[in-house]
Amino acid sequence: MSRAADLPDRLLYQEALAVSGHAHAPYSGFAVGAVAVGPSGRSHHGVNVENAAYPAGLCAERAALAALVASGEREVRRVAVAAGDGSDCLPCGLCLQALAEFGDPEVVVRRGGALEVVRLRELLTEPFAPPGEGEDRG
Ligand code: THU
Repeated sequence: MSRAADLPDRLLYQEALAVSGHAHAPYSGFAVGAVAVGPSGRSHHGVNVENAAYPAGLCAERAALAALVASGEREVRRVAVAAGDGSDCLPCGLCLQALAEFGDPEVVVRRGGALEVVRLRELLTEPFAPPGEGEDRG
């Protein structure tokens, strides 16, 4: 179940909104900012980085995840996502799968015009995992 955003969630969303100002989105015109937080409590920022060769573009969430991992952290506890224009924005399936590699974070998003906090595994109930992972290989 999702829950309404509290003050810390709102602050994290505002941080993602500010970060979206650095997006490189000349092709879609849709700027996105993301903040990923791990056990250290530090913020790791990401923006969407588009490319003239469209499939080479990167989403803000995976950019933030890469920054978190590059800093040495290996767990994502919270993620905030903000479209630069303040509109609704949920992580795409690719980003959900990427985030699921590093935990089941609370995701702060604007959905239906309101800020909500939802668990990643509510958005992606069954992420891909290599066959046999987590099973008893008898
Ligand atoms: N995008 C993100 O960065 N994150 C999302 O959650 C949704 C979409 C980007 C990808 C592309 O650069 C632009 O937004 C339009 O889809």
